[in-house]
Amino acid sequence: MNLLFENKLNATLAEIFKTLDLDIKFATVKVSDRPDLSDFQCNGALALAKIAHQNPRDIAAKIAGKLAQDEAIETVSVDGPGFINIKLKDEFIAANMDKMAQDKRLGCGEVEDPHQVVLDFGGPNVAKEMHVGHLRSGVIGESIQRIERFVGNNVISDVHLGDWGTPMGMILAEIIKSDGNLDKVTSYDIAQITEFYKQANIRCKEDETARENARKITAALQGGDATYRRAWQHLRSESLKAIKANYEQLDVNFDLWLGESDAHEICREVVKIARDKGISEIDNGAEIIRLEETNKPKPPIIMIKSDGGFGYQLTDIATIKMRVDQFKATEIVYFTDSRQTLHFEQVFEAADKLGIAPNVKLQHIVFGTVNGADGKPFKTRDGGVMNLETLIEMSKDRVRQSLPKADEVAGYGAAEIDKLTQQIAVAAIKFQDLKNTIASGYVFELEDFAKFEGKTGPYIQYAVARINSVLRKAEANGLHEGKVILVAPEERILALKLAQIHNVIMRAHSEKEPSIIADYTYTLAQIFSTFYNACSIMNAENPDLASSRLRLAKLVRDVLILMLNLLGIEAPEVMLKAENIGE
Ligand code: ARG
Repeated sequence: MNLLFENKLNATLAEIFKTLDLDIKFATVKVSDRPDLSDFQCNGALALAKIAHQNPRDIAAKIAGKLAQDEAIETVSVDGPGFINIKLKDEFIAANMDKMAQDKRLGCGEVEDPHQVVLDFGGPNVAKEMHVGHLRSGVIGESIQRIERFVGNNVISDVHLGDWGTPMGMILAEIIKSDGNLDKVTSYDIAQITEFYKQANIRCKEDETARENARKITAALQGGDATYRRAWQHLRSESLKAIKANYEQLDVNFDLWLGESDAHEICREVVKIARDKGISEIDNGAEIIRLEETNKPKPPIIMIKSDGGFGYQLTDIATIKMRVDQFKATEIVYFTDSRQTLHFEQVFEAADKLGIAPNVKLQHIVFGTVNGADGKPFKTRDGGVMNLETLIEMSKDRVRQSLPKADEVAGYGAAEIDKLTQQIAVAAIKFQDLKNTIASGYVFELEDFAKFEGKTGPYIQYAVARINSVLRKAEANGLHEGKVILVAPEERILALKLAQIHNVIMRAHSEKEPSIIADYTYTLAQIFSTFYNACSIMNAENPDLASSRLRLAKLVRDVLILMLNLLGIEAPEVMLKAENIGE
């Protein structure tokens, strides 16, 4: 199916360029900046004229003459210095809307080269409460995971738990200090474990001997000490329970809940490969790999620390090897903030030197931080770290203010209201995040992010619920969707916007940028609003027009639901607040 007007026009243009002996590199259209004049524009003649030292209007006229013969095209004109303005036939656009309505994928294609992608996001650490700093990695990763799957790639997502570094030795040491041994460890819950970690952190900051001791215990743990391993197992599984609960709240999902520790055996293999290849050396008791210094200093990889423990980089290198060998990854993408930029540069370079991931695309995507109004990382009112649970609760409180109380609406008891509150609160949090480009940080907006109007998640959910209500009403009145007929300009604009869906998703996929989807979704909801105000469905001039508009409305609803889904956001059937609004 070819719903893509741009692609269709590009193909037609390429044919024309070939017959005119013009470089097909310039045979492209873009959505017109002047929708009053045209739907699409081709500016290729200007570039071609420059190269051939000819008059651009002459070249444009030749191209336009041939284009005009295309049966999908209503008018072609040459304007200004040589712009080609193209307007499609209404019937052509309408017929494509009908096709879109009949297609399960709403006219969206898939990638040509489906492959195996491992996504590494989340990355929480054992014994550390999840806080606002963990939000973006989960939210962005979940959206990218859904987009990748939708375009046909095979995705394996892995949380890559931080469970093998010095913090492990620090907690064990702290517990031993308090209890004399590790006998009571298995009775500790997550709150107690987190408390021990906090204490350990304070102690190790001030006390070099404590740090030294923690490092020794970490090395012994990694080395296989049974008592440490047993205790650590408990810390890990308690933490994992808490972490899973947090991600479940946010509807962030992983195929694998592996951690750094799962790469332990492979770390040994990597060390051996490095030795065999002669790229490692001993430096001050540590085993390291030196890296090329380019324009800035690049510290070496410390594979094995002088105390015998494995370094963070080594676990990541080994994890790459595991993902390539066991999961057949041909692309691995990591999502973290900028503090890990150097780490991944080192890891990728070492992986290359070691030859463990030939032809595998390794990519580190860096996101900006979530800030408070002061531009610094978002904190609680008293200046503490905002944990994720608090953030979600805060969002829910805000949403509750917009919703009726339990049992105020028939069929909506406490459980239903709670579920709806949850769905809207998560939408508010996620959309506020995803509407920003990944690279830019953003200010966590406390007042407006959960409102039902403006560029918010709840606004899009509300748009869906509003259409749902229209569809229910139409059905109750015996109205059915039917062939699309474009009469009013608002219908045409809406249809052209709908037809962009495939390109929008493909761009979001290739640029790894969910904000492209968030932007589109918001604009579509607004365009729908304008259409809906101008073009009555129930009071349409005739039944055919009513059926056509109903089909357009349903398409918008389905596209919005799909797009929200790709952002990791649910679309509730009703929003309760929405009920009294509409026709
Ligand atoms: N656990 C790490 C941290 O909290 C993030 C993990 C990122 N992923 C990775 N494969 N290293 O800083």
